[in-house]
Amino acid sequence: MRARWSCEHDGHVDNLCLPSTSQPSPPAGEPKPFPGQPNPLTVLTLADLRRRRSLKWRAYHPNVLPLWVAEMDTLLAPAIREALAEAVAGGDTGYAVSADPTGVVEAFAEFMAQRHGTSVEPAACTLVPDVLRGIGAVLSQLTGGGEGVLINPPVYHPFFSYIRFAGRRVVESPLVPDPTGRWGLDLDRLEADLARPEVTSYLLCNPHNPTGTVFGRSELLAIAGLAERHGVRMLVDEIHGPLVYPGGTFTPFLSLAGESAAAASAIVFTSASKAWNLPGLVAGLMVAGPDARGDVVSVPAPAIRGVGHFGVIAAEAAFRGGGAWLDALIEGLDANRKLLGSLLAAELPEIRYRAPDATYLAWLDCRELGFADPAAEFLRRGVAVNSGDMFGRQGSGHVRLNIATSPEILAKAVRRMSTDQGVDLD
Ligand SMILES: Cc1ncc(COP(=O)(O)O)c(C=O)c1O
Repeated sequence: MRARWSCEHDGHVDNLCLPSTSQPSPPAGEPKPFPGQPNPLTVLTLADLRRRRSLKWRAYHPNVLPLWVAEMDTLLAPAIREALAEAVAGGDTGYAVSADPTGVVEAFAEFMAQRHGTSVEPAACTLVPDVLRGIGAVLSQLTGGGEGVLINPPVYHPFFSYIRFAGRRVVESPLVPDPTGRWGLDLDRLEADLARPEVTSYLLCNPHNPTGTVFGRSELLAIAGLAERHGVRMLVDEIHGPLVYPGGTFTPFLSLAGESAAAASAIVFTSASKAWNLPGLVAGLMVAGPDARGDVVSVPAPAIRGVGHFGVIAAEAAFRGGGAWLDALIEGLDANRKLLGSLLAAELPEIRYRAPDATYLAWLDCRELGFADPAAEFLRRGVAVNSGDMFGRQGSGHVRLNIATSPEILAKAVRRMSTDQGVDLD
């Protein structure tokens, strides 16, 4: 017997097949201790993961391998697990402190200084429940009804819905792939789009989801120069900033504030939720450039209410003590992005794939496979990925595949994707 469910996530509705019988129960007893393995992606088995209750593992039939939403198949970094365990043991389950300069904000500033060599002024940081609500609140407060917000599709799909929900207009300035498959900016097109009179802000995603592009310092300065010329405010989503692979460099937008007026008036949104897998705990940060402090302070408190106390505790632990775990994670992800390349070359050579420069999201060009809807076909074969269409019309014929899983699951998924045989979803 089969029940059809509908799952709405970030404005996107999937029709899902879930069994009408009960789902597997969550793990019983004590959590498995972190065994100190170098690769956090090899700790959990498929059986462990199938007991999870979060969206990634519950949205689809248990026989499906879910490589879609940006959750990771890891345990918590030890520093986070210890901080949360201490809070649970002490019954520390009250409200989050929204303005504690010595807590998460200081830890974030230290992390940015040590990891990215940039100084963050704790007073410039405001806690928000999550990045999207921060973006929505800023758009509602700092832009006017009907004004245009520029984005670079194919791009993280909720950008479209949050801009529209705020009553603003989406203005698309697409990224374009170069011959190597890197999706980059067409600066002439960008300038023309920024010059449109309705465009007053630009929501940039760096590192970019879903393409994995990392915009370098000179590209960011070029963007900032154009934004300044056309009086457009920069809003920058840097949630994937900690997830840049070896050989690449993440340039925090506010590190350009001394050279660029557009950077000095920018507002950056970030969170520990992607790099340490904490989205269910609900805590993010918005960081105002030196000329944007007053604007950020003007955002009404109810618009950003709902920061989770456990989210704050976990984020502080991540920024302060999660660096070694993050290094091990990046090493594992780096191996997975390369493994995916070899698996695809061997089993699905029609798919074009350039390993991402950041993020655990792989952007696959499936047009040569000739499927009408590649994500639907892969789901029939037992692998859930995000359809490229969600990210804008430029994503047609593409899918986004989440590599933050074990090499075994990744290999099993590619094997399934390459085999024209449906899995049993009854
Ligand atoms: C670019 C980007 N921004 C924001 C989010 C969502 O973050 P939050 O849960 O903090 O709103 C994601 C999640 O995958 C993302 O990829």
